[in-house]
Amino acid sequence: MTSKMKPNGSAKISIKDKTIELPVYSGTVGPDVVDISKFYKESDHFTLDPGFTSTASCESQITFIDGDKGTLLYRGYPIDELAENSNFIEVAYLLLQGELPNEEEYQQFNHNITYHTMVHEQFKTFFNGFRRDAHPMAIMCGAVGALSAFYHDSTDVTDQRQRVVATHRMIAKMPTIAAMAHKYTVGQPYIHPRNDLDYTENFMQMMFAVPAEKYEINPVLAKALDKIFILHMDHEQNASTSTVRLAGSSGANPFACIAAGIACLWGPAHGGANEAALRMLEEIGDVSNIPEYIKRAKDKSDPFRLMGFGHRVYKNYDPRAKVMREACHEVLDALDIRQEPTLKVAMELERIALEDEYFVEKRLCPNIDFYSGITLRALGFPTEMFTALFALARTVGWIAQWKEMYEDPAQKIGRPRQIYTGAAERRFIPRAKR
Ligand code: SDX
Repeated sequence: MTSKMKPNGSAKISIKDKTIELPVYSGTVGPDVVDISKFYKESDHFTLDPGFTSTASCESQITFIDGDKGTLLYRGYPIDELAENSNFIEVAYLLLQGELPNEEEYQQFNHNITYHTMVHEQFKTFFNGFRRDAHPMAIMCGAVGALSAFYHDSTDVTDQRQRVVATHRMIAKMPTIAAMAHKYTVGQPYIHPRNDLDYTENFMQMMFAVPAEKYEINPVLAKALDKIFILHMDHEQNASTSTVRLAGSSGANPFACIAAGIACLWGPAHGGANEAALRMLEEIGDVSNIPEYIKRAKDKSDPFRLMGFGHRVYKNYDPRAKVMREACHEVLDALDIRQEPTLKVAMELERIALEDEYFVEKRLCPNIDFYSGITLRALGFPTEMFTALFALARTVGWIAQWKEMYEDPAQKIGRPRQIYTGAAERRFIPRAKR
């Protein structure tokens, strides 16, 4: 990848009697950066930034977020325009290649993905090793990591053709594996992928069809799910994407890197928040209980957090939450579930929180996970599948970011340093003398 950073002056840092001058660069949009890559060599100091709140880990051209304006761009296109006008396959192509496809490119890419949706038949034996009550994300971590054992012919990352095949296999097989994880836990037979359906319709039939009867695709619901997948596809250098990049920086194969990303996404502070948010709304149960939970969320001694609220970057609103809320109402209207009880709690909780001085002062707003749980449950997905759906969609962003990392001539193995505050060097004392 050719760097598009533009030099924009320098920054001077004075430490004791020494002044270090560091280059400053500008990107297309967003904050400038101070390049500190030579800081340790010139100052004999490390910088410290737990949680990387002020640290850019890389240069990227894939996604841009402006947390104050509530902007989210995929390769320059606003997320709401893509969600309204595009589809999963077209946005996946955009994230991978950097431009929207023409008709020929679209059809070729769609064919490449469609014809990789089946998994090796031996995969069923692999699944049999799990307990039937395993959490789908536990299965996804194991199964995706195991892909490198089944598709060893696309694990040599130095071979560009193998990287392309692994990319197609990863995007194509995630829906099949996610649906198998669900079917395995409910004891129903696996449903094979169908090449006559689009990506999201295919996933829905693998999830909900049974051999005993014909499964009818509901196009309104399929379109809503496709929109939800687009919203979840990528999000700059979030925790799971950074995990994938760090794993990939060692030269690990893409299946192993994506498995690492799935493991990180599972946490309730990250992708696990959609499952946690719905469970929280169910626990609140009725709008009359909201004040008690708002009080708990503010209480520092109480570990309770309002799941689906707050974000490291968005400090006004998450543009995905706005589209998600609209999709939620579309689905509930299409299914005639207007009195969905958790929706009433969610809307009242959102109204109260956005007026509460604690949430206003800390700039906490609903994020993508706040409404996704209600929508996914209305679509028929069990709560424990919510994060698996997030992982299915985010696989596109993970693999696009992995590709960009691997093709970046400046990339090297990621290896952060630390400030050490442990014991100074000391001599070993035999146990008899302690
Ligand atoms: C995702 O990074 C991404 O891009 C992630 C993601 C993606 O697409 O990849 O957008 C997906 O992970 C969305 C976030 C889903 N997680 C949740 O909804 C879980 C609940 N949210 C919180 O855990 C929290 O808001 C985080 C983890 C999302 C953000 O944490 P930060 O940026 O580290 O903020 P913080 O924890 O330092 O909070 C700042 C203050 C704290 O109070 P003080 O210590 O300053 O007094 O706000 C408080 C927090 O206690 N706070 C909350 C809160 N979130 C933050 N208080 C109550 N409820 C909350 N939800």
